[in-house]
Formats: sequence, C-alpha cells, structure tokens
Amino acid sequence: MISVLRLLNKTIKNPQSVNILIEKNLRCVTDLPKHRYFSENSSDAKTSSLKRSNLYSYYMTKDVFGSKGDFITSPEISQFFGEILAIWIINEWIKITKDPLQLVELGPGKGSMIQDILRVFKMLKYLDKVSVHLVEISPALSMIQAQKLCIHIKETNPVDPKTQTSENPIGHYMKGITADGVEVYWYYSVTDIPKKFSVFLAHEFFDALPIHKFQKTDQGWSEVLVDAIPGIEEEKFRYVLSKGPTPAARIYIPEDESRDHVEISPKSMVIVDHIASFLMKNGGFALIIDYGHVGDKTDTFRAFRQHKLHDPLVDPGSADLTADVDFSIIQKIAQKDNKTICFGPISQRMFLKNLGIDVRLQMILKNANDVQKKEILSGYHMIMDSDKMGERFKVLSLFPHVLSKYQDIWSVSGFQQEKND
Ligand SMILES: C[S@@+](CC[C@H](N)C(=O)[O-])C[C@H]1O[C@@H](n2cnc3c(N)ncnc32)[C@H](O)[C@@H]1O
Repeated sequence: MISVLRLLNKTIKNPQSVNILIEKNLRCVTDLPKHRYFSENSSDAKTSSLKRSNLYSYYMTKDVFGSKGDFITSPEISQFFGEILAIWIINEWIKITKDPLQLVELGPGKGSMIQDILRVFKMLKYLDKVSVHLVEISPALSMIQAQKLCIHIKETNPVDPKTQTSENPIGHYMKGITADGVEVYWYYSVTDIPKKFSVFLAHEFFDALPIHKFQKTDQGWSEVLVDAIPGIEEEKFRYVLSKGPTPAARIYIPEDESRDHVEISPKSMVIVDHIASFLMKNGGFALIIDYGHVGDKTDTFRAFRQHKLHDPLVDPGSADLTADVDFSIIQKIAQKDNKTICFGPISQRMFLKNLGIDVRLQMILKNANDVQKKEILSGYHMIMDSDKMGERFKVLSLFPHVLSKYQDIWSVSGFQQEKND
C-alpha cells in the first residue's frame, strides 16, 4: 500500500484549494436545535408539498456546495480524500479479480471525488479497465459533473428498468466520455446500473435521503409529522405528533427499542438491500462514508443554509436537509440472508490513517511551496481531526458473503481498530 502511495506522490502535484475553511467548520457544528423534525409520511396535502419541494427541488436547479452554497464535503476540501479511496479500491479490486470494474457513485455532487479517483487510476495505468456510473437525480448537478469529467456528452432516453436485461443494460439518461476515453453514464436509480462487477461509493448520500421520525409518548410510539399552521393566511408549517402509532411506527420500531426518539430511512434500507443483492449476484464491493451512528443517536435531523443551521420548516426547498445515518440498520440489511459481510463502521480518521494518509501528506508537503503547504495542512486537519470530520464521519464496507471463507488469507484494508496515531 505504502509503495503505491510513493508512486503516486511522484505523479500527482495538484493540491486543491482549501480556502473555504470557515464554512467547512460550520458544517460540522454539533450543537443542534432540538425538535427539528421532518417526515415524508403524511397524507396532508401541504405536508406532501413540503416534502416534495424539500427533497426534489433542493438539489435540482443549483450548485449548493462550497462558499456560495450551503455546505462543503470532504472530497471538495482535499484531494487526499479521493486519492486514498482510489488506492483502497484498486487494492481490494485486484485481490478479487482481473475483470473490468464499474465505478458506481451514488450522489456524486460536483464530481470531485470521482475525478480524483480517476486521476489515480490513470497514474497506475488502470483506466482501460474502468467505466464510471453516476446515480444522480439533479439535472443541475449532473451537468456540473459532466462539465468536470467529460469532453463530450449525449443525453439519452433511459430504457424502462423493468425491460432491462443483462444484454440490454441501458438504464442511463446521459452518456459521456472523458479526455482519457473513459465512458461515464448517468442514472436516476441504483437499480438501473448494469449487472457487472462493481464498486459502489456513497459519500454523504444516505444522509440526504428522507427519514421518518418517531417519538415515544405515554400512548406508545407516535410519528412526528409536518402540518400547515391553521388559521393564518401565510403558508407556515409546524411539527405535530400522530395520535397513535402510524403504520410506519408499527413496521419500523422494534419492540425492544430503548431510545425515546428514532429516525428511520426506509429509502436507504431499500437501496442498501439492492446493493447487497447486486454484490452477491454480480460481484464487487461497496464503501459508505457518512455522518453516522450505530443505533444510539436520537434527534439528528437538521437543515443548513449558507453554512448555518436553519429551521427546516422555513422556506422548504431552500436548505440542505440531513440526518445522521444509522449504520447499524445498514449492516443489518446488508448482512440479511448472508448476502454480504461488513467491515466497519470505523471513524473516517482511523480509516484514512490505516490507509497511509500521513505518509502521503509528508510526500506532498515535500514538493509544496509555503502557500500550498498551508492549504494542504488545513484540508488534512479538516477531514482528519477528531473535533472536525475525522470522528463524526464513519466508514463501512460491504463485500459478498462468499468471500468470508477466504478471510484468513484475504483481509480488507483500512478497518483495523487499533490506534495508530
Ligand atoms: C450531500 S450531496 C453529496 C455530494 C458528494 N457525494 C460529496 O460528498 O461531495 C448529496 C448528493 O446526492 C444526490 N441525491 C440526493 N438524493 C438522491 C436520490 N434520491 N437519488 C440520486 N441522487 C440523489 C444529490 O443531488 C447530491 O449529488
């Protein structure tokens, strides 16, 4: 692993700008206002329109990242991030097969992570074995990704996934080609991805998906719903509790639940289930990185607008909505019926340290001038420090269960729990 990093150091000299540090810090604020709830489960027309405007408009029309947007993410902060992930992917891939690889990213944002990954694949001469598959619902962001990655793009009519077959794997709505000749495809859904050996990457994807929010009351579990405030002319919203358990509360809250607030994302569960089945049948592996916990947190739902906490019920659709990912649920779904085995969750800090980020840092610093050094170190601290993104972000990987019998001779890098600081 370290020798691959040395090779990289000779060839990559393009530290990304990290001059948006203050905004990044705000994204990591943990002191959140209580009772910021949102639920997609209501028949109320206004609640539905709130949901639609939030979930389907927010990303759709604008670039919401960076100093002019609402938040900033690790791949946008430091190119280290994508580069180290690329090394990990190559390392795990070539242990398993010599077959070509589909790099699948869910919610690629501005496309920076996949760009950094492709640069490493190019350095290590693996580009001819790779195609890129991006799952993105936002037309605005897909165009930003296309401009960043491709020299040529063509929009297409996706074939109905129901009629899709392995001989006709054309579920994409856009196709492009990079300057190095790598094919890039865009899809609306992970279910459209062609059924071949794939690596799934999800960075800050699951935290953006809708959640149900439940609260324990004297009458049992109620669901937290969003309602229009009655008796006023303006359209304003408030949180209300269902009178008794809703169908969602009955389905999703286990009998032995000890918390008094719970957030559940059924959409995330469906996607993880699909990925686990996909890996079992077609081969590959997955890496999920997100704000997260292991079934111990309660009230994490919040909104960010222009890098500040924002009331999610004010101007729906204008702010980034996020809820911490429950990795214990992802593990449970992924391991169901022995489809996959999981490694992690482990903190982002430990994962990147295990993969040699400090060696890479020292190598890059050697070739940098003073200004670059300052920027490189700021980016490093932002993604690594325990009080910033280093501990709050967790990393989980999924591998087909069939590989578990080779674990004595085959171990997955990055997930050792020992402290190596
Ligand atoms: C918080 S951003 C993360 C972007 C990027 N991964 C990063 O870390 O910089 C969430 C991304 O997921 C996309 N997205 C949100 N909901 C989605 C869905 N249901 N299907 C596909 N993409 C979705 C957004 O458009 C955006 O690209």
